[in-house]
Formats: sequence, C-alpha cells, structure tokens
Amino acid sequence: MSPSGSAAPPGPISRVPRSKAAGRDWYDALSRWYDLVADPFEAPARAAGLELLDAARGERVLDIGCGTGTALVELDRAVGPDGLAVGIDLSGGMCRASARALAAAGLDPGVVVEGDASTAPFPDGTFDACFASFVLELFDTPALPAVLDEWRRVLAPDGRLCVVSLSRREAGLATRLYELVHEVVPTYVDCRPLYLRDTLLDCGFEIDAERVVGAWGLPVEIVLARGG
Ligand SMILES: C[S@@+](CC[C@H](N)C(=O)[O-])C[C@H]1O[C@@H](n2cnc3c(N)ncnc32)[C@H](O)[C@@H]1O
Repeated sequence: MSPSGSAAPPGPISRVPRSKAAGRDWYDALSRWYDLVADPFEAPARAAGLELLDAARGERVLDIGCGTGTALVELDRAVGPDGLAVGIDLSGGMCRASARALAAAGLDPGVVVEGDASTAPFPDGTFDACFASFVLELFDTPALPAVLDEWRRVLAPDGRLCVVSLSRREAGLATRLYELVHEVVPTYVDCRPLYLRDTLLDCGFEIDAERVVGAWGLPVEIVLARGG
C-alpha cells in the first residue's frame, strides 16, 4: 500500500518538457516566495535527507540546486570552519537567497555558485558528500544518467550522495493526480516523481541506506548512495 492508500501506478515516469531557461526564470520569479510556498511540503523530507547524509566536521560538501539555502546553512554548520559547504543553483535569484540565508546565519555567503549542476564547475573528486533535495526530478529522463555521472565525478572516491526525490515507488492515486497536473503545467508543477533507488542503481551507484516518507500524501524517496 502507498502513503495515499492505493496500489502503485504502473508505467514510466513523466517527461520534463520545460526548457532549462524557463526553469531558471521560474525559480528566479519564485525565489522571494519559495520558502513560504514550498517549505511546508519539503522541509520534513529535506531534514530526513540531511540526517541520512550526516555531514561531519571538516568535510567538503556540495548542495546541488541549493534553492534558498535552507539545507546549505545546515550543511555549513555541520562541516564547521575547517570544512567547506558549497551551493550551486541555476537561478541567480535562488543563489542570492542562499547567500542571504548564509549571511543571516553568520556564515560565509560567498560559497554559492550560479551554474548548471549537469556541468558542475568543480574538479574531479572535490567533495566528500553531495546533497540534492527536490532537484533530480527537474532533469528530463534521457539526461539522468549523464547528470548522475557528473555528480559522481565531483565526489571523492567513496564519497556519498544523498538524493531526496518525489517517488513513484509506493505511489498511488495522489501521485497520479499530481502527475496529471505536472503534464498540464510542467513549468510550474515541475518536480516529477522518479524511481530514485532504481535510477541510482542503473547508473552504477551502490545504495547505503534508503527511506520512503510521505509529503502531503505523495511518497518521497531519500537514498544515500556511493559512486560504486
Ligand atoms: C524544487 S527547488 C529545491 C531547492 C532546495 N534543494 C530545497 O530543498 O529547498 C529546485 C532547485 O533546483 C534548481 N535547479 C534546477 N535546475 C538546475 C540545474 N540544472 N542546475 C542547478 N540547479 C538547478 C532550481 O533553481 C531550484 O532552486
């Protein structure tokens, strides 16, 4: 049974027809309101992901699609002054929101990079850990293997990747309804549910730990993986 109480819907994941430029413009427009609109839905699963990742003092961590910086602040605090927490986001508005959040927390606001996480501007093996919360869902299906290869590339050998994603696993009617809305307005209801664990395994990752939690009746997978 799913969190919504129905049998899992069969079939493939939805596609992401929106262009990256349209996505960037959408998040630029949303950046000042994002926490108000999205945080009640995302916060519990994001917090569970941070707990699973368990960033430690002195580590170098990357928050992929860092949005308004909620997780980045937590990661920066966890790694401490001897570590390094970097955020990357496609949207300049979101990057500025992240920098403001870091500054408000008394942390270095200069560690946010405006850029595309599918071509991350970091050398191989830069990070001990990467965190991606409600971001992988925004890449279209054919792009997923290359995106995950890129995230593996920036991880140190044996580095960990924690992904939080809307999921079709254990999904039911609520997920199907959500997907129908996504199909009608893909620019605005943009995170489409994945089979996260299977996607990571298909891309050669090894799974260390996994959880499925509910967010307003929609299943969310939280998976901790290593590059394999
Ligand atoms: C649904 S929000 C999630 C934000 C944040 N991770 C959180 O948990 O609150 C998705 C974020 O990913 C960013 N994003 C989308 N596509 C991206 C890409 N190709 N590279 C980097 N960031 C991207 C968006 O600008 C947005 O800030």
